Amino acid sequence: MVINRRKWIDNALQPVKEDGDAKDKKNSNQVFRLEILPMIKDFFNEDGIALDVGCGNGRFSFQLAKYHSYVHALDVMKYFDSMFASHNVEFFKVPFEEYEPANSTTTYSTIFFFGSFYTFGNTGYINTVNKCLSLLDRGGHIIIVDNQKRLVSDDAKKVKKGHYQMKDFGKEINVVLNAIQWNGVHRVLVLERK
Ligand SMILES: C[S@@+](CC[C@H](N)C(=O)[O-])C[C@H]1O[C@@H](n2cnc3c(N)ncnc32)[C@H](O)[C@@H]1O
Repeated sequence: MVINRRKWIDNALQPVKEDGDAKDKKNSNQVFRLEILPMIKDFFNEDGIALDVGCGNGRFSFQLAKYHSYVHALDVMKYFDSMFASHNVEFFKVPFEEYEPANSTTTYSTIFFFGSFYTFGNTGYINTVNKCLSLLDRGGHIIIVDNQKRLVSDDAKKVKKGHYQMKDFGKEINVVLNAIQWNGVHRVLVLERK
């Protein structure tokens, strides 16, 4: 069971170059800065704390740190690279399902998933969203960036592993952004806690 999980996670890894950027140009830091960041940065709160779930080597934790007071970056594996260290970023090696902030009063203004939300199919997306809600400030945001094909219409009867529907997210959120990046690759979903 543990071996299968490891294999699944290794398969879901973002292959990176020496400078820590993704090998796949469609997932590059430049694409993030030029095309995705402008869509989401108005939802950030510079006094708030961001949680980067499935942070990989930390390349986006480093970006989020510029717009938040602090970033907690977590990943089930330790891929975090010191080149993305920052005075206000702290890394935790833990599965999100088991994550509890060290300080039980900590809540987040932003919970960010880049290429990682879809890996939560096994435990169910409603559980993942509920876990986020338990950690999120009121009015805070869950930001999901995944391949746009992963969100399937709520009418679709067959939903493949790693795909999800809006109805999987439950009733405790408002969808405040559902936009496809201009080159058609990523969907950017912003869910706001009611
Ligand atoms: C495709 S990579 C994306 C990494 C990073 N967000 C990026 O874009 O560079 C997906 C990451 O999610 C992590 N991951 C998968 N399941 C996880 C879980 N249950 N809890 C925490 N991290 C998880 C994997 O270890 C992997 O680093």
